[in-house]
Amino acid sequence: MSIELELVHSDWAHLDCDALVLVLFQGEEPDALVQSINDQMGGLLTELAASGEWRGGRGELLVLHRPKGLSIRRLVLLGAGVRRDCNGVCLRDRMVSLVRTFRGSNVKCIAIVGWSVFDPMLSIQACAEGILIGLYEPDEYKTQDRRKTMLEKTLFWSDDQGGAPELKKALRCGLILGDLARSLVNQPGNQLNPSRLAEQARAISEKSGLQIEILDEPEMEELGMEALLAVARGSDEPARMIILRHFGADDDSERPVILIGKGVTFDSGGLSLKTAQGMEEMKADKAGACSVLASMKAISQLQVRRNVVGIIPAVENLPSGRAQRPGDVVRSMSGKTIEVLNTDAEGRLILADAMHYAKRLNPKCLVDIATLTGACVVALGHVRAGLFSNDDQLCEELIQASERAGEKFWRLPLDNEYRSFLDSEIADIKNVGKRPGGAITAAKFLQEFVGDTPWCHIDMAGVDMYQEGASSKGPTGFGVRTMVELVSSKSSL
Ligand code: BES
Ligand code: ZN
Ligand code: ZN
Repeated sequence: MSIELELVHSDWAHLDCDALVLVLFQGEEPDALVQSINDQMGGLLTELAASGEWRGGRGELLVLHRPKGLSIRRLVLLGAGVRRDCNGVCLRDRMVSLVRTFRGSNVKCIAIVGWSVFDPMLSIQACAEGILIGLYEPDEYKTQDRRKTMLEKTLFWSDDQGGAPELKKALRCGLILGDLARSLVNQPGNQLNPSRLAEQARAISEKSGLQIEILDEPEMEELGMEALLAVARGSDEPARMIILRHFGADDDSERPVILIGKGVTFDSGGLSLKTAQGMEEMKADKAGACSVLASMKAISQLQVRRNVVGIIPAVENLPSGRAQRPGDVVRSMSGKTIEVLNTDAEGRLILADAMHYAKRLNPKCLVDIATLTGACVVALGHVRAGLFSNDDQLCEELIQASERAGEKFWRLPLDNEYRSFLDSEIADIKNVGKRPGGAITAAKFLQEFVGDTPWCHIDMAGVDMYQEGASSKGPTGFGVRTMVELVSSKSSL
C-alpha cells in the first residue's frame, strides 16, 4: 500500500491539505492551539459544545466543511474520550475510523493535530498502524469494482522539531506493524504455498538486512524432522523451514530470543478432513508465520540491540495417496515418537520439530505463535489470544509488552494432569487428547519439546481475522506488535 506519512512543523493554518484533523478529549479545556482555532472560527467550537453536538467522546467524529474564518477545506473533530483512558488501542481505532470516513471520497491529504497523546513515539506509531489498518481493503484479486483509496498522504503536525529522527523511525515501524503480516495472511492457498512463502521471506530479508536460511525437504530429512515431513507428505507442494537471523547484540554469540510461527499455508485437515463449511478460512493457518516474518522485518529495521532468530515451519496439509494416516507413528527430530490420531492436529507436529531445531541454537527463550486450536476460540472467543508459559517471569514480560502494544492475551494453565490425556499405548505421546481442555492439551504437547527453555506459546486461532462488524476487514496482524515490543523493550530477557 502506498501512503506517505510525514512529520511537519510549519504553521498549521497554512498546511496544504484537504482536511485538518483535531484530536480532542472529553471534558478538557481547549489548549492554546484549539483556542486560537476556535477564536478564528468565531467561537464555533464553543457553540457546538454548548448545543451538545460535540462532547469529544470516544468515537465522535464531526466534519465541518469550509469552516468560516479558516482557509482550509475541511475541519475534522475527532473525539478520543477521556485522556487518561486513551492508549495505543484507542488512538489506533480512532485513526481507523478517521480513514474509513474518507473512504471512496476524493480527500487525498489529511493533516493531524494533537496526535501525541502519551509517549510521542508510541502515539505516532499507533497512528500509523491505524491509518494502514483503515486503508486496507482485501481486494488485491479484484479486477473490477475495486474501491479506490484516494488518501495519499497524512501529515503529522508538531510544534517540536526535536526528536524528529526518532519519530520518523516510529512512523516507519508503524507502517510495517500495520501492513506486512496482514497482506501476507490474506493470500489464498494457491498463491502462497510453502515455497512462495520462503521466496517472500528471502525478498524481505534481502531488503531489510536479515540473514536467511531455507531448508528444503532433503535437508529436513537429514535432520530427522519426520513429524513435519509427515504432515507435508499429503501435498504436492514441498515443505520449507525458513530461518531468519537478526544479529543486533554487541556480541554476536549472545544467546538469541527465538520466535517460531506456525506456517500451514492451507489446512484441509488432511485425511481427518475438515467439513466444507468454513474450510476456506484455513488459508489463514499461516498467520503465526506471517507475524514472525513481519516481526523480524520490524526488529531489523528498528535495529533492536539483541540477537533474534525467527523460525517458520511451512507446510500444506492436504489428503492424498501419500498423506499420513490416523494411527501412524512418526519419530520427531527430538527422538520422541508420536502417535498421530488426528491429522488435523498438524500444527503441533510441525512446531514440535521447529522447537527442537530451535533448542539446538541455545536460545535464551522461545516464543511460538500459532493458529493452533478451535478449542481456544471456544474458550476466549475473538477478543483475546491464549497464552501459555513454563516461566512466570517471561510470561509477565510478554503480558506487559502486550499491554504497551495494545494486544490482548489471557494466560491459561499447564497443569500436569492435562498431560495424561496425551498418553499413548504404543508411542511416547499422542497428538490429540479428548475434547475438554483442547487448547491446553495442545500446549502440553508443545511443552514436551521445549524442556527447560523459558517459553511462551500464543494460540491466536480466535484473533487472526477481524470479525463481522469490526472496524476493519481481513487479517489483524496479531502478535507482531507484542513480539516487537517484547524484544525491543529493556526487559530482563
Ligand atoms: N488450524 C486449526 C485450528 C483453528 C481452528 C484455527 C479454527 C483457526 C480457527 C488446527 O490445525 C486444527 O484443526 N485443530 C484441531 C485440533 C483437534 C483435531 C484436536 C481443532 O481445533 O479442531
Ligand atoms: Zn488442523
Ligand atoms: Zn491448522
